[in-house]
Amino acid sequence: MENLDNSISSHFPKPRQEIENMNPYIAPLEGRRNLLRLDFNENTIGPSPKVIDAIRSISSKEIATYPEYNGLQQAAANSLNSLNKTHLEPSQIGLFNGVDSAIHAIFHSYGNAKEKFLTTLPTFGYYNPCANMQGMQIIEIPYEARNFSFPLNAIKDSLKKDKPRLLMICNPNNPTGTKTSAKNILELAFLSPRTLIIVDELYEAFLGDSILPIIDFSQTPNIVVLRSLSKISGLAGLRIGFGIGNKEVINRIKRVTGPYDINSFAVKAAFAALKDQEYIDNYVRQVLDARKWIHEKLLTYEIKHHIDSGNYFLIWPKKDSSEIESSLKANGILIRNMKNKPLIEGSLRVSIGTKSQMETFWRAFQKAEGI
Ligand SMILES: Cc1ncc(COP(=O)(O)O)c(C=O)c1O
Repeated sequence: MENLDNSISSHFPKPRQEIENMNPYIAPLEGRRNLLRLDFNENTIGPSPKVIDAIRSISSKEIATYPEYNGLQQAAANSLNSLNKTHLEPSQIGLFNGVDSAIHAIFHSYGNAKEKFLTTLPTFGYYNPCANMQGMQIIEIPYEARNFSFPLNAIKDSLKKDKPRLLMICNPNNPTGTKTSAKNILELAFLSPRTLIIVDELYEAFLGDSILPIIDFSQTPNIVVLRSLSKISGLAGLRIGFGIGNKEVINRIKRVTGPYDINSFAVKAAFAALKDQEYIDNYVRQVLDARKWIHEKLLTYEIKHHIDSGNYFLIWPKKDSSEIESSLKANGILIRNMKNKPLIEGSLRVSIGTKSQMETFWRAFQKAEGI
């Protein structure tokens, strides 16, 4: 019987060898809606009411028709220009089905098999599977010492020695919150003009040091900046993100995506979200206040932690991390266990929401830890 099972399971069309070898990125997505979601760094209060109104106004004709994107690149450019005092043109903004889809498209269009992909460790989990899909060689440079500072010199050395095709900088980094200055990144782009540097600015609103204000994409066409409406605007379920760069580079990256990858709901929501900057600013302010509040608690109670520039922090409980995770879940709170993650083993990553949500977390954490 065993042999038969084996022979059946081995009889299926084999994919490319790179796909057979890779570890896919799997996220624990199910059954989260009614809990306090501090596990994916999402917006914890939902999108602007104007977004909900816009989605409710969608007609049956709009649903039956393929999506129209006219004006959305302009709206995104206007929003970025007014926030960053830049002069971006619509052709410099690529629309994607979430930043994950932009990341996939960049690897697909720029990453050749056997070329090198330079990244940091630990970082966001979807970069490496994309490099694996292309059959690229991955070079991971660890964040430094106990503070997880940015390994700038090691990255410079690797750019010179390894000549990578792609370099990914998540700024601030998920999950360590590590920041590096926009100026440092620009310097790397001049140092290695043949490397495409992707700056993942998903959590930039909580840091306030975007590279956009200081970059001229005609001088450094080898930088692409990623922004998403998932986390800060609260549109994670609709999937929309932006790739910003030199218009020729954006044009090449867009060649590998389908013509209607972004759905009409996401388009409608994006227009409304981009118009309501006040709502975003208010949410960011609340998260920054809550970050300060929880930081003080962690210091007062002398709990091992690392809190830096994102809407999340790392905490090392004294008890086993899985035990604390289960106890928090029993109290309706989700966090992300960093089990088996190099450098941060034993920690939990906790997203930061509003102050009252952090108070709820803190009470449950104290109970679970017995402090
Ligand atoms: C650093 C980073 N980049 C990209 C993404 C994916 O963003 P999106 O929802 O726009 O696909 C995430 C989501 O967790 C992330 O943390």
